[in-house]
Amino acid sequence: MSELRPPAPPKRHLLSIRDLERGDVERILDTARSLATSLDREMKKLPTLRGRTVVNLFYESSTRTLASFELAAKRLSADTMSLRSVGSSVDKGESLMDTALTLAAYEPDVIVIRHPSIGAPQLVARLTDAHVVNAGDGKHQHPTQALLDLYAMREALGRLDGVRVAIVGDVLHSRVARSLIQALALVGGETVLVGPPTLVPRGMEALGCEVSNDIDVIADADVVYVLRLQRERMDEAFVPSLREYTALYGITPARVRAGQVVMHPGPMNRGVEIDPRVADSEAALVIDQVRAGLVVRMAVLYDVLTAPSPESDPTGVTPQSMRVEVA
Ligand code: CP
Repeated sequence: MSELRPPAPPKRHLLSIRDLERGDVERILDTARSLATSLDREMKKLPTLRGRTVVNLFYESSTRTLASFELAAKRLSADTMSLRSVGSSVDKGESLMDTALTLAAYEPDVIVIRHPSIGAPQLVARLTDAHVVNAGDGKHQHPTQALLDLYAMREALGRLDGVRVAIVGDVLHSRVARSLIQALALVGGETVLVGPPTLVPRGMEALGCEVSNDIDVIADADVVYVLRLQRERMDEAFVPSLREYTALYGITPARVRAGQVVMHPGPMNRGVEIDPRVADSEAALVIDQVRAGLVVRMAVLYDVLTAPSPESDPTGVTPQSMRVEVA
């Protein structure tokens, strides 16, 4: 009988916003806030994930997501290793399955993966013992982007409940839009999608949002969330010309009313979906979003590796929180 052990707790992943409930979102945002306060200190490194290993596996280009996950792991004292598919054995034809099994042999605690195929993070979660975080899979999900967007909105507006967000542009190719619509619905926000019919797929209302092809509806929003025109994912012409798209849907100073904030997940096509005068204005939260990305990804790494408990302390300052290091 002494060989019997309690069943292992289920591995915690973040594959989709659908994995979360409102309480989970609030806990992650509150943890991020607490971590942000701790980062104001001169010594920015925390001991929280000492001895843990975080692998970043990126099959698509990234600046913000990869940099912030790597820095987030380092700030929490985890060992971290980043692998881009370009320059790896993926170039020699190695499959995702074999790459995942190879990296799993190093026994990472967390694998953060970005991949052009929908479902790649789920596959890695099935194949390995690691906690898996989706850093973007095809047009499907980018859950940590949605969480950092909520964080930046809450910091700027002081609330999320009842916040109205107009998501403008290339919804069709956007995992950011899908995740953000779901995340806003969880916390009591409202979303209206705005763009040409070719770039706003039919049936999006099923996700709990409104849809309009009229740019003037953005006047009612608290947040104008501008999407990048993802030309690299377009194998046909979805807009007659960039000039026409910009004239009809580009976010110019004339289209932003006083009191609104403007967000963009980056990278921006300045002069296409967003006028540089807006991107560089006081109303723009673009750099706030980048900063939010660091603390929210620290919070996510901490969260997947830690059973939620009121005593958990991500800053590792109180004695109770030392449990995090040995869990
Ligand atoms: N927003 C975003 O995912 O940016 P990167 O592609 O630079 O990671």
